[in-house]
Amino acid sequence: MILKIVKYPDPILSRPGEPITEFNDELRKLIADMFETMYAEQGIGLAAPQVGASIRLMVIDLSVGKAPKDKLVLINPEIIFTDGKLYEEEGCLSFPEIREKVARHAKVRIRAQDEKGKWFEMDGVDVLSRCFQHEIDHVDGMLFIFRMSALKRDLNLRKIRKMQREGKW
Ligand code: NI
Repeated sequence: MILKIVKYPDPILSRPGEPITEFNDELRKLIADMFETMYAEQGIGLAAPQVGASIRLMVIDLSVGKAPKDKLVLINPEIIFTDGKLYEEEGCLSFPEIREKVARHAKVRIRAQDEKGKWFEMDGVDVLSRCFQHEIDHVDGMLFIFRMSALKRDLNLRKIRKMQREGKW
């Protein structure tokens, strides 16, 4: 089922998600729906607060549905190691049409649980590193617009307000 994507400034996007303790069918259904929703929007990452669930869950697929081995589910994720710097353009499904360069770590190691509750660690470099950081920010209630320079943030907030006035947001 394709879910509705919550857009900025919905307050759920700024609220830290609750830790997940039950790895049940309801959770697996939400994960399947999140992949379906992300693919429908041609996204590479989606966090549960973006579909209205304030919990610490995110899905990633850099292949956008083309390579099953690229499907990643991260539950209760945390970053345990970082290295280097990246400054690349990012977008976000909760900010349609906004793309901006954001400073990130070039490499991160994450620790998370899979959909059965098993803990694992994984390294991400470049795009995957950026994606891990962007989506973990989401489950922490942090949005990429607040990682931009003050100048870029203000420009984009003005652009959003203009689109809202014109009924395009
Ligand atoms: Ni996002």
